[in-house]
Amino acid sequence: MLNTACLRIHISARTTTTSRISKLANSASLNTVAARCSHHAAHYDGPSPTIAIIGSGPAGFYTAQKVMRELKGTKVDMYEQLPVPFGLVRFGVAPDHPEVKNCQDTFGDVAASPEYTFIGNVNLGHDLPLPLLAKHYDAIVFAYGASKDRKLGLEGEYKPHIYSARAFVGWYNGLPEYRNLNPDLTAGDTAVVVGQGNVALDVARTLLSKLEHLKKTDITEYAIQALSQSTIRHVHVVGRRGPMQAAFTIKEVRELLQLDDVNFSPIPDELFPNDLKSLPRPRRRLMELLKKGSPPKEGASKSWSLDFLLSPKSLTWSSSDSDKLEGVLFSKTKLEQADSPESKVTNTDETTLIPTSTLFRSIGYKSEAIPGMQELGADFDDQKGTIRHDGIGRVVSLDTREWDKASLYCSGWVKRGPTGVIASTMTDAFQTAEAIVEDWKKTFDSRRPVRAGWKGVQAEAQALNLSLRPVHWSNWQNIDQVEKAVGVERGKPREKFGNVDDMLKASGASG
Ligand SMILES: Cc1cc2nc3c(=O)[nH]c(=O)nc-3n(C[C@H](O)[C@H](O)[C@H](O)COP(=O)(O)OP(=O)(O)OC[C@H]3O[C@@H](n4cnc5c(N)ncnc54)[C@H](O)[C@@H]3O)c2cc1C
Ligand SMILES: NC(=O)c1ccc[n+]([C@@H]2O[C@H](COP(=O)([O-])OP(=O)(O)OC[C@H]3O[C@@H](n4cnc5c(N)ncnc54)[C@H](OP(=O)(O)O)[C@@H]3O)[C@@H](O)[C@H]2O)c1
Repeated sequence: MLNTACLRIHISARTTTTSRISKLANSASLNTVAARCSHHAAHYDGPSPTIAIIGSGPAGFYTAQKVMRELKGTKVDMYEQLPVPFGLVRFGVAPDHPEVKNCQDTFGDVAASPEYTFIGNVNLGHDLPLPLLAKHYDAIVFAYGASKDRKLGLEGEYKPHIYSARAFVGWYNGLPEYRNLNPDLTAGDTAVVVGQGNVALDVARTLLSKLEHLKKTDITEYAIQALSQSTIRHVHVVGRRGPMQAAFTIKEVRELLQLDDVNFSPIPDELFPNDLKSLPRPRRRLMELLKKGSPPKEGASKSWSLDFLLSPKSLTWSSSDSDKLEGVLFSKTKLEQADSPESKVTNTDETTLIPTSTLFRSIGYKSEAIPGMQELGADFDDQKGTIRHDGIGRVVSLDTREWDKASLYCSGWVKRGPTGVIASTMTDAFQTAEAIVEDWKKTFDSRRPVRAGWKGVQAEAQALNLSLRPVHWSNWQNIDQVEKAVGVERGKPREKFGNVDDMLKASGASG
């Protein structure tokens, strides 16, 4: 079913490094590939399903796009907990990466279809019981991403001046949940970021970038104010393994190395494999870049370092104030196979202290179950933080499905875990979409009751006296317009609303 471009992206998602996928994700070509992949629909003019998609991030939109193209007439109701769409494209992707957000154009095209309904400001499992959807849809797709983060498990991890990257990123990107985070960036001159993925580099870059540059992005105004007070001059980005095992990609490292006014502390030579030439090209290029570092910039006022082979052991506090962070004690670690990207690592008895007043943990996001999932027949694997499925995205096997209930699917980060760029999420969503299409064609039966979708859900919610205030696509477009208009006044693409009440006011949605 896939054309060549589509096949290529499938293969790259499975077999090549994140850096190639990331490159694709960060270019306009993603929209072209998405369009080509989903355009390639076999002619079908049979009956079409009514589908609920939970989550309006890339997984939700790409699943919708492909099913709507392959099964003409498919109705998609997309539920979103916030009054605004796009998930991490809006609340995760760094403000200084505007080109990554181009995928929103594709999502806008999907939403323009008369068969598509956006139902924002409805938190499934909280505002609306999940099992209520079952009889109103042919299929329900869980595409709700990862709304939590992983913890270090250190005593005192919740004290002041310790922030999860998810909270910090959400705060500077206007995520209502973190509007009041108000991180104090004035406690000292050093910050430690634990974790060496791309999110860690986003955090470091935001702390180190020049404000003149950030001000022209869609970063929130309150974040600019807090960053303008920042006294942080050095950022340690700390990993428990070595350069060969780092999760970040080359483009993101290069951006940091190229920052004006920011020096990079060289990485000791002995941490690199002796023979870089024999490494696969992407890893070799990353190692060469890390080894080369950047030439010292005269008079630079800030700096950063990549600190390897350190695993956080405990936090140290001021003797006069037990809430004042003074440092992070790390166990030095040892790799089993230093040159293997998959190498395991063990702690040694040696430790080292990095003095710091501010700590960010950036060790990954985490999904959790939505209340009511089990009742619906979906099984959440708490250990992995993903929904159990058949490897493709079917939550319940065809053989055990109940005739009168919606079939269940999953897509995106809640399906495969919280890693992968937008391009790999797209590939994954297309795979789920293909399963939906295949199952529908295989199992459709004319005796099947016609599903009422959102109309049926709304009627039942009313009967149960549930107070919903749904935001539809035109309401989001009102919010979008106001954000952009305020942005123009401030010389930036948009000024995001930081709280739900303001979004609702601007939306014009009836309350
Ligand atoms: C900080 C950060 C920066 C990133 N930067 C890049 C980048 O530069 N380039 C790139 O290619 N990739 C980037 N990524 C990766 C990319 O964002 C993900 O691959 C992608 O967003 C995952 O899509 P998703 O739809 O599975 O999840 P999400 O994007 O998280 O979307 C899930 C949606 O579901 C909604 N939802 C959750 N629970 C409910 C509920 N109960 N009811 C209704 N709705 C619900 C959420 O509000 C959200 O809108 C970044 C990720 C992070 C964390
Ligand atoms: N510009 C972009 O393209 C961009 C920007 C941001 C995010 N993203 C993507 O979004 C996804 C999520 O990014 P992420 O940075 O959150 O996750 P990630 O890529 O999985 O990185 C997580 C990091 O945390 C470390 N870690 C995990 N548990 C730890 C622990 N207990 N103690 C110490 N370190 C620990 C990991 O080290 P180990 O490897 O040793 O486990 C790894 O370095 C990734 O696929 C990323 O590429 C892309």
